[in-house]
Amino acid sequence: MDGNGRWANSRGLPRTAGHAAGVNTVRTVVEAAVRRKVGALTLYAFSSDNWHRPRTEVGAIMQLLVSRLPKESRKLAREGVRLSVIGRRDRLAQDVIRAIKAAETRTHAGTQLHLRLALDYSARGALARAARHLKSNRNGRPAAQDFESALAGAYHCEKPVPDVDLLIRTGGEQRLSDFLLWECAYAELYFTRCPWPDFNDAALDEALAEFCKRQRRFGRVPSA
Ligand code: FPP
Repeated sequence: MDGNGRWANSRGLPRTAGHAAGVNTVRTVVEAAVRRKVGALTLYAFSSDNWHRPRTEVGAIMQLLVSRLPKESRKLAREGVRLSVIGRRDRLAQDVIRAIKAAETRTHAGTQLHLRLALDYSARGALARAARHLKSNRNGRPAAQDFESALAGAYHCEKPVPDVDLLIRTGGEQRLSDFLLWECAYAELYFTRCPWPDFNDAALDEALAEFCKRQRRFGRVPSA
């Protein structure tokens, strides 16, 4: 969900207005994803490095979660969307944790779309935690599934850890910024200049159309 700050600044607004507009885009994109039968959608809402932003901006993002999650999660539940939050929880304030848990409980039965919000998320952090966990529990040589299981446990993620098919980065940058590094092993990457607040159904369709054109080989040769 990149480009919120620049979107706001280009309109003479504070960066936090961009994040508020970004929540409206979450709604638009979730509805579009349900209509297009996307199975899972993970949104990068707050990286572990985002703690280094000004306190006021961090506070505004956390406040958006506390204020918007209750109403949004009621809508999600009605639409059959299951919400879960991946990332660390030990550095989040109690009111944020309460809002997350209530939203997860309210939406747990959803089957139309699995919406995952990455919060205080760092892919390197998750990988390092998983490796430490395996080392301390090690009896014999750990298998790849053991690692995946440890990775899921490290950051509140379900098992098996879902692979990413398509990674969309809005806002014009072309980098992964510590997002789902393990899960993106064979992801198709799609970069758009469109800032997150302007991303909509048509922009999602463009990304999906581009994805459909890609030939995914997973290291093999093309089938004849
Ligand atoms: C990245 O844009 C965006 C963020 C760090 C925050 C995104 C969080 C939300 C939209 C809140 C989500 C809340 C709910 C309830 C779903 P940026 O600030 O890095 O933009 P820039 O690159 O233009 O500076």
